[in-house]
Amino acid sequence: MQAETFKGRTAVVTGGARGIGLACAAKIAAGGGRIALWDRDVDRARQSAASLGDAIAVEVDVTSEQSLADAVATTEKQLAPADILVASAGITGPNTTVIQYPVEAWKQVIEINLTGVFLSNRAIAPGMVSRGWGRIVNIASVAGKEGNPNASAYSASKAGVIGFTKSLGKELATTGVLVNCVAPAVVKTELFGQMTEQHISYMLSKIPMNRFGEVDEVAEMVAWLASPLCTFATGATFDLSGGRATY
Ligand SMILES: NC(=O)c1ccc[n+]([C@@H]2O[C@H](COP(=O)([O-])OP(=O)(O)OC[C@H]3O[C@@H](n4cnc5c(N)ncnc54)[C@H](O)[C@@H]3O)[C@@H](O)[C@H]2O)c1
Repeated sequence: MQAETFKGRTAVVTGGARGIGLACAAKIAAGGGRIALWDRDVDRARQSAASLGDAIAVEVDVTSEQSLADAVATTEKQLAPADILVASAGITGPNTTVIQYPVEAWKQVIEINLTGVFLSNRAIAPGMVSRGWGRIVNIASVAGKEGNPNASAYSASKAGVIGFTKSLGKELATTGVLVNCVAPAVVKTELFGQMTEQHISYMLSKIPMNRFGEVDEVAEMVAWLASPLCTFATGATFDLSGGRATY
């Protein structure tokens, strides 16, 4: 990524306080972009924003339309309207079988990982369309392509993100707003704290490269998809699975 790739552009990153979202934000900031880190953990988002330069932190719950509308207003006032959205906020939910999966946990995973992506895309896309340019990158997962045992809600939510991205990409295909998603295999972040050791080992055992992904590897692809260099891809799912899902 060149130093000026994102000059004059503003990127909103949900779940940007840490992990994959923060790595994407750092990559866009390194290319000269302004950054708004939207996260429900606003203290951590503030610390992270301080490390990025031209960046703000905004407290957001991606499951709340009102919270997202307030965040759009705050970002436009303090920074500028969003040219780029990276939707990275997400949780894993419990590692257990479908038969034993608690219904409330199922609803929470779908609410954050899928409805949260729908709501954050819907909060930001109209402004992009009216300005005639935008790049949206949703963070899906290889779980949405392959389906991981003992992670049914997570796998279903990420398959949903892939389908949602196809729909919105086609709806906006002639507007200048491109909408894609990435499907990483397991990447070592604080999200590991939400998973069992057994589940992490299972996911690692499925990767032909026999290693975890790095947040920077995800950020590199996301940054390209979020940049003006990406011009003829929309509605697509880009693989980052070390050879696990070669389709
Ligand atoms: N780490 C992996 O192995 C991996 C692999 C594939 C996909 N992903 C996906 O990448 C994304 C980021 O994962 P990560 O590993 O960086 O996780 P992480 O836990 O390090 O970061 C997730 C961030 O999302 C925020 N968040 C959670 N719920 C929120 C809500 N309702 N509103 C606003 N913010 C909220 C958290 O506060 C946190 O800062 C997730 O969507 C995850 O499913 C992760």
